[in-house]
Amino acid sequence: MVTRMSGGPEILLHVDRGHPETLASQLRAGLRDAIRSGRLMAGTRLPASRVLAEDLRVSRGVVVEAYAQLVAEGFLVTRPGSGTLVSDVAGATPEHSSWWHRRDQQHHRLWRPELDLRPPGPDPTLFPRSQAVRTMTEVFRHLPAAEFGYTGPWGVAALRRQLEFHLGRLRAAMAPADGIVVVTGLTQALTVIARTLATAGYDHVAVEDPSAPVQRHLLQVHGLKPIPIPVDEEGLDVGLLATSGCRVVLTSPSCQFPTGAVMSAARRARLLEWAVANRALIIEDDQRADFHFDRPALACLQGMRPEHVVLIGSVSTTLAPAMRLGWIVPPPQLLQAIAETKRDDDFGTAVMEQYALASWLESGQYNRHVRRARRSYAMRRAALSRQLHQYYPQWAQRGSPAGLEILLELPGSLSDQHVAAHARQQGLGITPLSPMRISTAGPPGLVLSYARLTPRHCADAVQRLELALQAVMTEERTLAAAAIPAQEQEWHLTSADWPAAPDDFYP
Ligand SMILES: Cc1ncc(COP(=O)(O)O)c(C=O)c1O
Repeated sequence: MVTRMSGGPEILLHVDRGHPETLASQLRAGLRDAIRSGRLMAGTRLPASRVLAEDLRVSRGVVVEAYAQLVAEGFLVTRPGSGTLVSDVAGATPEHSSWWHRRDQQHHRLWRPELDLRPPGPDPTLFPRSQAVRTMTEVFRHLPAAEFGYTGPWGVAALRRQLEFHLGRLRAAMAPADGIVVVTGLTQALTVIARTLATAGYDHVAVEDPSAPVQRHLLQVHGLKPIPIPVDEEGLDVGLLATSGCRVVLTSPSCQFPTGAVMSAARRARLLEWAVANRALIIEDDQRADFHFDRPALACLQGMRPEHVVLIGSVSTTLAPAMRLGWIVPPPQLLQAIAETKRDDDFGTAVMEQYALASWLESGQYNRHVRRARRSYAMRRAALSRQLHQYYPQWAQRGSPAGLEILLELPGSLSDQHVAAHARQQGLGITPLSPMRISTAGPPGLVLSYARLTPRHCADAVQRLELALQAVMTEERTLAAAAIPAQEQEWHLTSADWPAAPDDFYP
């Protein structure tokens, strides 16, 4: 019998009338077990004796007797006004809590730097909270009861309709509402696409080098082997892609992470030609298209060759990763298979958030928010870029004025991981470039996100970076003077700094 604790959780208690033990004795034993095992935690309020007696269909006296006994034993306490509670002493620690020891408790993301320049993600303080409160209140108030069920793998029709207008207008995509699958973000988009392609017999996928480790991880665990293709200032090297033998490529022409490269017109044309000539598929990651600061983003590739491109995007950079909302626009021939994979994954994306986003898109609030955020990020980018230039005029800042990061190239003699470790000691979170490289060699660098860096804190951040760089240079000079062999000079961070754990795949 599941008994409702008044104002508290439910607890499973049994009494068996056929059992030789008395009902009060069974109830005492049941409560003791629940407290010892941690199912009833310290401070939990028990139901009133009358309520528990009703639920268990025993007389109230049986419950009163059991409670009194457990109070006497110290398992329970009574407090005027609060009723009967599990005592702090008896219920302090669940017996088996150590079984569920989570690896991410030591995870570096739990480290909160005073200044955080680590990608990805937007500035959460820009999130339009009051607008969200109003919209969500409306959604919960007015959503028809039928919409509280499973809405299917495609996503809410109202959102798909708005995405059709939005992606058509701003990205020149060919994305009819019936050709869109709403997902929980780019992560699920890549998961679903990889699984669908692996089931269809694909086994390799070309990926950009360098790129976010999360992308190749997702493709790999879902059955596609990533083949690295170098990226330069014009974007993915399509010549090398053509010789790779791959028939699927994941690329981000609008703004590559972490190099910030925007694919040139010549490369875009060659990439589409390659796809047509090889009957190949381009997975177009459009995540960073909303943040271009000198001119609007170029139209997406998908609109030009929808039969060869899967367009994917999410609101994780525009609103917040916590929204868990994104989309896939597959070519017609893959649409059904992708929707079925999504269905098998989770039966559909959370509905209320979909209605909220549909409403923001329809009212224009979403675009107003993105424009406001873009203005802030443009100022933050300019401030960081200026500061970096003052300190390091000879070091290149790579990438177009787009995205949410600046890639600061370091001299080849410096280890970017070493710099990141020293920055950590200065309370500054930065991301080294080298772990994002797969097999293409290149200079070390720092991927610096300005999304959360207000101009007020910019000078402070660069001063901390300078202290870290000074420390690294001093150490490296000392090592060189002591003529320590190059191999030993290589810096390896401890797992607390940069662990290669699966949950570390976000850069
Ligand atoms: C660079 C980067 N950041 C973040 C994410 C997570 O995106 P989302 O929140 O849309 O799942 C991904 C997923 O592939 C990514 O590649």
